[in-house]
Amino acid sequence: MTANADIIEALRGAGLAGEGDVVLEPLTGGVSCDVWKVATPRGPIVVKRPLPQLRVAADWRAPVERGTSEIRWLKRARGVDPRLAPEVLAELPGHAFAMRFLPGCPVWKDELMAGRVDAGFAARVGQGIAAVHAATAHDDGDRAAFANDAMFRALRVDPFILYVAQHDAALAPALTALAGDLAGRKIALVHGDVSPKNILVSADGPVFLDAECAVYGDPAFDLAFCVTHLLLKAVWSGDARLNAAAGALIAAYQAGIDWEDREGLLLRAGKLTAALLLARVEGKSPAPYLTDPEHKRIVRDQARASILAPQSIDALAANWKRTCP
Ligand SMILES: Nc1ncnc2c1ncn2[C@@H]1O[C@H](COP(=O)(O)OP(=O)(O)OP(=O)(O)O)[C@@H](O)[C@H]1O
Ligand SMILES: [Mg+2]
Repeated sequence: MTANADIIEALRGAGLAGEGDVVLEPLTGGVSCDVWKVATPRGPIVVKRPLPQLRVAADWRAPVERGTSEIRWLKRARGVDPRLAPEVLAELPGHAFAMRFLPGCPVWKDELMAGRVDAGFAARVGQGIAAVHAATAHDDGDRAAFANDAMFRALRVDPFILYVAQHDAALAPALTALAGDLAGRKIALVHGDVSPKNILVSADGPVFLDAECAVYGDPAFDLAFCVTHLLLKAVWSGDARLNAAAGALIAAYQAGIDWEDREGLLLRAGKLTAALLLARVEGKSPAPYLTDPEHKRIVRDQARASILAPQSIDALAANWKRTCP
């Protein structure tokens, strides 16, 4: 029996593979899952299986049930708008699943890193995230289906916010309060990993992947998480168009907020963005491309100042500097 015979067997059981050889071709990038592309008689598919131990330097374990959270998020997002997520074709043993492969769709991160920065696309990302939040806000069914609080705490609150709090006494009170607020707020369905590396650029707009951290929680988190990546890349590249993309994303998201007071949400998102920015230079999961000490300092100084004197996310993005003052 080959290492992945169980997956191949399950694909056959689901009618997704013929009797001939089935080749699992690894897709690059995955740190938390095995992700394969598989040619099938019905066209190419992607098979994703969560790993119990993440492939990062620090010892970081996560329950494989997050595979099922991801399946649920993909289905729910498609219920809001089928263009927002790939179609799930089968659920497989071990919280694995098969989805449709989207051909010819680059990963947004690769586009940004190559200098192809499109504020219009960033706005569609903001619109898409807000659409899922608006459709799921204050919904008891979604709240019950995504009660993944322990998972979100282990994968997001602890490593990104509390880890930094434990290593920085001056910031600890603000960050500890922020972590408590984030963990306690139950407003809408949060994707939990809205990073450019988890967004495909399709002709129909953004397609969101990788929803393993999905939780019913604070929608401000998704906005903050994605904007953090754009601001980090602005420092890395020095490209003002990334600031503009962050602004466009925030403006489009803001226009979609119909479930709560906008000001309150934007302030929470500003606090979370500041914390996440710092986490990406000092935390457990540093941004891999931000290696230049000068870049790190630019991010660290602005993030720390913004944690100590919170500002709303639109102000934070508008004031964000790419170089040393
Ligand atoms: N349905 C799909 N169509 C096309 N490409 C896909 C699809 N699903 C995943 N991919 C590709 O595989 C990569 C990894 O997928 P995904 O982000 O879901 O896995 P992961 O293991 O959770 O990744 P990571 O931990 O690095 O974020 C994506 O960045 C994308 O390039
Ligand atoms: Mg991913």
